Amino acid sequence: MTGATESYELDVDGRALPVAAAWLGESLLYVLRERLGLPGAKNACEQGECGSCSIFLDDVLVNACCVLAADATDARIRTVEGFGDADHLSDVQAAFLGTGAVQCGFCTPGLILAVHDLLDQVPDPTGLEVREAISGNLCRCTGYGRILQAVEEVKATRSGASGPRGESP
Ligand code: FES
Ligand code: FES
Repeated sequence: MTGATESYELDVDGRALPVAAAWLGESLLYVLRERLGLPGAKNACEQGECGSCSIFLDDVLVNACCVLAADATDARIRTVEGFGDADHLSDVQAAFLGTGAVQCGFCTPGLILAVHDLLDQVPDPTGLEVREAISGNLCRCTGYGRILQAVEEVKATRSGASGPRGESP
């Protein structure tokens, strides 16, 4: 690969992570996955069409394949890795597992973040609002029924819970 390179730092999930001698044309998706070892955001279409690479950039859900990593040095980046791990799942992650909303799993990280984004902004969305919120996240496996069920379960749990949002019940 040819072109200018630069070393810089990215603020990812609260950590300052160094990126050394990277081509300035690399996407944030590429840098997260290939340089920083964070494979949660998935690489499917690489053209902003599928949502599998969703991450938060300054609290806004974006497609990481459409962002230049070198342009994100002043932003707070949050990936699905920052929402939980195998021992500490977020409520949305737990609901996806519990309802069987995960099949091949390729779409799952993006959908998890889309649902967190929706429910943090609209705690009690209508069915149409849920469908609109996840409309940019393509899933080839599930038919979406169990994904919608997972969202309903998180809504129900949160409405009856007193703990902070985004944490496991
Ligand atoms: S890989 Fe980024 S939107 Fe599909
Ligand atoms: S579970 Fe396979 S693409 Fe959604």
